Amino acid sequence: MGKFTDQCVIITGAAGGIGQALSERFAREGASLVLADLNDEGVGKLAVALEHDYAIPVVTSVGDLSTPDGAKQAVEVATSTFGRLDVLVNNAGGGVIRPTLMHTEETLQATIDRNLWSALRCTLAALPVMLAAGYGRMVFIGADSVRNGLEDHAIYNAAKGGVHALVGGLSREFGMKGVTFNVVAPPAVRSPEFERYMREQPELTNRFVSQIPMGRPAELSEVAAAVEFLAGSEAGFINGQVLGVNGGSTLA
Ligand SMILES: NC(=O)c1ccc[n+]([C@@H]2O[C@H](COP(=O)([O-])OP(=O)(O)OC[C@H]3O[C@@H](n4cnc5c(N)ncnc54)[C@H](O)[C@@H]3O)[C@@H](O)[C@H]2O)c1
Repeated sequence: MGKFTDQCVIITGAAGGIGQALSERFAREGASLVLADLNDEGVGKLAVALEHDYAIPVVTSVGDLSTPDGAKQAVEVATSTFGRLDVLVNNAGGGVIRPTLMHTEETLQATIDRNLWSALRCTLAALPVMLAAGYGRMVFIGADSVRNGLEDHAIYNAAKGGVHALVGGLSREFGMKGVTFNVVAPPAVRSPEFERYMREQPELTNRFVSQIPMGRPAELSEVAAAVEFLAGSEAGFINGQVLGVNGGSTLA
């Protein structure tokens, strides 16, 4: 028996670097998984690999999670396939990191859509199911940069700061209902996306990492471990928190 055997877990942004690590972590713990992403091929391949390696049921939902239809579809796939929804990991996102005045209409919109609207839409779609069951765990991937105002991150932080604030409000509003809402906030994470930044803009990326007292980015497994903890039933009295998995770069 794994920690999440008989539980249904939706991972949004499952095809990305952190999403894949999260999916594998929950698969290892026996979860029934819904992998949601825009990237059809990415979630398809991951689903096949996880079913094979961990002998768990995995389904995918392909669509734009920043839209009501895309978010509803992911939740409907969960409930129609598994008849329940225990955990939603709002991980879809990703920064368009650049100086504020170099953003275009398109990059502004994409930053807010990916990071804030997808989290908000998926939350709205999943909440009624969790409230009806009287149980649920929502864990959001936020960002440590919201707290330290990292250079070139203003627009990304506007979106992720919205996610942090959303979690605080939801935890108060639904405190009596058995559903908890928490954020895991990493700084740079050693994901394929991070490696790309390191190749394309090494000086800037090294400046980001230099803000971390431990002198390195977070490992994917370190982020996944924190998410797993907050998604578990034993974390039931932790609500509305932003957990920095950040090597000490910002203090509580
Ligand atoms: N990598 C880091 O250094 C880092 C640091 C702090 C926070 N984060 C956050 O962690 C999360 C995962 O980051 P990552 O590094 O794995 O990024 P990534 O770009 O590798 O993966 C993000 C995934 O989200 C999906 N996605 C984005 N918008 C979507 C939408 N509207 N609908 C459906 N799918 C959508 C993408 O297709 C992609 O597969 C993001 O929220 C990111 O902002 C990452």
